[in-house]
Parts: sequence; C-alpha cells; structure tokens
Amino acid sequence: MVVRSLITGCGSCLPRQSVSNHELAQRVDTSDDWIVQRTGIRSRHIAGDGETTSDLAFGAAQSALAHAGIPASRIDLIVLATTTPDHTFPATAVRVQARLGLTTGIAFDVQAVCSGFVYALAVADNFLRLGQARTALVIGADTFSRILDWNDRTTCVLFGDGAGAVVLEATDGQGTVSDRGVLSTHLHSDGRHYEALWVDGGPSATQTTGHVRMNGQEVFRHAVSRLSEVAAEALAANGVEPGQLDWLVPHQANLRIIEGTARKLHLPLEKAVICVDHHGNTSAASIPLALTEAVTDGRIKCSDLVLMEAMGGGFTWGSALVRW
Ligand code: UT7
Repeated sequence: MVVRSLITGCGSCLPRQSVSNHELAQRVDTSDDWIVQRTGIRSRHIAGDGETTSDLAFGAAQSALAHAGIPASRIDLIVLATTTPDHTFPATAVRVQARLGLTTGIAFDVQAVCSGFVYALAVADNFLRLGQARTALVIGADTFSRILDWNDRTTCVLFGDGAGAVVLEATDGQGTVSDRGVLSTHLHSDGRHYEALWVDGGPSATQTTGHVRMNGQEVFRHAVSRLSEVAAEALAANGVEPGQLDWLVPHQANLRIIEGTARKLHLPLEKAVICVDHHGNTSAASIPLALTEAVTDGRIKCSDLVLMEAMGGGFTWGSALVRW
C-alpha cells in the first residue's frame, strides 16, 4: 500500500475583463496577425483596479472546494504558486487561508514562475505522502499584468491574469500506474539562465517591483527541449508509452511550443489541452486553468492518464503524471 494524492476537485477564477489583440494594438505597436502567428494568443484576461492575486486565488480555491464537495475546514495544507504576491510578505497563501476561515494548518507560497503549479503540486504531494497533511489546496495564481512593461511589445502581449486550483486528498493506492492520483513528479532548475527571463527589480536588489524582461528566442530554444525531456522522464519513470496518455496539459506560453513538444512526444495535437488562445500566458495559473476547462467540458474524465509539464524563469521546469 502507498499513499496517493488524489485530485478530487478543480476550479478557476479569471478577471472579468478580456482584452483582445486588436485592443492591445491600439496601445502598443503590434498587430493581431503578429501575435496570433508567433504565439497563438488572441485574447487574455486582465485584473481590474484593486483586483489582487489573492482575490483570484480565493475564487479558484472556492470553486475547487465546491467541485470536490468538501468544506474548507477539511484543508490542512495550502501551497500557492505565484510570482506576483499581493505583498512582498506575508505569503499570499495565508491571505487565502484566512479568507477561507481557516486558523489551523499550513499555508505558504512557492516561487518557480511558470513552473510554479507543477512545483506546488510536487510539494503538496510529498507532504501528503509523508503524512504531514491529509487534504491540500494547490493553487496557481498570478497577475502578471502588474509587472509588465506596457511599453515593451516583446513581452506585454504575451501574458494574462488568472488563477486555478486543485484539491488533493490522501488515499491508499497499490503503488502501480493503475492507481488514481499523482503517480510521479519531476522537477529541475538551472540558475545559469537567471537573466533570460526575469524581473529587473525586487526588494533586496532595487527596492522596487520591477518589470518582466525576456530573451524570447533563448527561452523558446530551451523550452521545447527541456519540456519534451521532462515529459519523457515522467513517462519512463512509470513505464508508460506516449500512446497510453489520454491528455497532455502543458503550460500555456506559446502554441508553437505546445506543438513542438507534442511532436517530439509523438502525440497528436488533439490530445493537448490548449487555452493559450484565450488566456495568454498566465504563468503559475495556466495548468490549473487548462485542467479546469478540460474537466468542466468533459474532456478529462475519471481514470484518464494526464501529463502536465511546464517551464519558466530560472530556468525551472517540471512534469507530473496523474491518473485523474
Ligand atoms: O512561460 C515561459 C516563458 N515564455 C516563453 O516560453 C516564451 C518563449 N518565447 C517565445 O514565445 C517567442 O520567442 C516570442 C513569442 C516571445 C517571440 O517570437 P519570435 O518568433 O522569437 O520573435 P522575435 O523575438 O525573433 O522577433 C521577431 C520580430 C522582431 O523584429 P525584427 O527585429 O525582425 O525587425 C521583433 O522586434 O518581431 C518583432 N516583434 C514584434 N512585432 C510586433 C516583437 N514583438 C512584437 C510584437 N508585435 N508584439
């Protein structure tokens, strides 16, 4: 017998305001054609005045709890992945904890940029498997619009805001690939690429918040290789062939990266959940947003084999193989 972290609910929260490429082209020197051809993005949600990462995270948490059919009082661990916390400290997770009415348990943030959700899932899964918690909320939430340089067309057209969450419950499994729940997680980082994708501010370095800076071509070059490697690592660790996968749920940064990764895995693109077209890159939120969309519309079903993968600033990258 082994402990498995079963995903029993998922949910999401997006800002009401959706901004199209055409609208952006009125503010920045860009075009719908360029953005669609290079990224596949057509629109993204942008947080309203005063709408914070914790507002979106709380909304996603409530919706995941409702989907799981459990009260917030059952949660004894909240791991929240974000790069855009409400404040430098405390963690955004404790704000969500308080808004859920919880006064016990553990709540903290994880910072791995666009890989944040996979990192947070791995951390929570390890807590559950070690018996340090029984029921976890894993949240990916970001308001990247707050750290974009709206005069830099090479970055500001790429990102959007949002939050997604899953509920994990510890259950017993056989230790085989037929078990439901998180089967394995695989995390990597390589800090040599710190400035390929970073924010040029921070409390210690500049005492400012800073803006996103990216060498897009360098990130792109690494992305397809690292993502297909870490996806293959998850499959090999579980003795699974790509053909056995029901769904690939990739981080949503660029349609061309998703297509390249699927091609390297010999997986038809129809098996990839894609929402980058209407979300843009929502960083830590992108995978749980995609999961929630595919569960809600009936694509991902009970017992489906789902592979998640992501890469982000650091560089960080990772994958998780889950039987839904
Ligand atoms: O979440 C993980 C992190 N993010 C990523 O995974 C992003 C990875 N990188 C990418 O997705 C792509 O590199 C981008 C979408 C960012 C850029 O696409 P690209 O095909 O690599 O374009 P590029 O940077 O080579 O730029 C091509 C041209 C340049 O003009 P010149 O020098 O050829 O005259 C840019 O100035 O496109 C120009 N350009 C734009 N034109 C219109 C750059 N941004 C824009 C824009 N609108 N928004």
